[in-house]
Amino acid sequence: MKNDFRIQFLGHNAWLLTVGAFRVLIDPFLTGNPVAATVAEKVDADYILVSHGHGDHFGDTLKIAKRTGAVVVAIAEIAGYVTSHGYENTVAMNIGGTVALPFGRLKMVQAIHSSTLPDGTPGGNSAGFLLTLADGKTLYFACDTALYGDMILLKKPSPVDYAFLPIGDLFTMGPDDALEAVKLIQSRFVVPCHYNTWKVIAQDPLAWKTRVEAETDTEVIILQSGEIIE
Ligand code: NI
Ligand code: MN
Repeated sequence: MKNDFRIQFLGHNAWLLTVGAFRVLIDPFLTGNPVAATVAEKVDADYILVSHGHGDHFGDTLKIAKRTGAVVVAIAEIAGYVTSHGYENTVAMNIGGTVALPFGRLKMVQAIHSSTLPDGTPGGNSAGFLLTLADGKTLYFACDTALYGDMILLKKPSPVDYAFLPIGDLFTMGPDDALEAVKLIQSRFVVPCHYNTWKVIAQDPLAWKTRVEAETDTEVIILQSGEIIE
């Protein structure tokens, strides 16, 4: 089975993935995001994947879910937080678990990072997502994480096609560690994110692309906020 697939970068670590008829929002931080490509009042979603509780990831999850009816997929603590705020359409999972969703098989993978919701509620562990579409295409959203050696396992059982990696430093991997991550993951493509949203995470993505492509077989795709990969 073949799926039409496209992904739009909405800025920072917010993504709008479209697989066939399904629209999947990832970390919808739009309100207050200086580089947001759209607004919470307009974006459509059937599913919302939340990596962790920080405001620049959980973002507009509640607002968008309540307006669109999207299913919120998150670690148990964050799914519980969403439920306690009056929205019950959630899938609660945890690190290492996989769930079959209509657009693909979604595995929650570890991220080395903290997780607290904007009001101080503990958000459990931080997570990343490994998504395998029906046609076998595999996407890895690292979300907020440090470099970790077990990234070498992400390409099993199937190679990663697209990896979305933070390079901003300070809160996540910086360019040096993200380069090492690419060497472990060995994806066909890598898309850098979580940089240049604010001055404290300023980076030069072109310099990083040059280094990655000199030292690995992975192709770097630099997206401006709003740009799309088809
Ligand atoms: Ni964070
Ligand atoms: Mn972040």
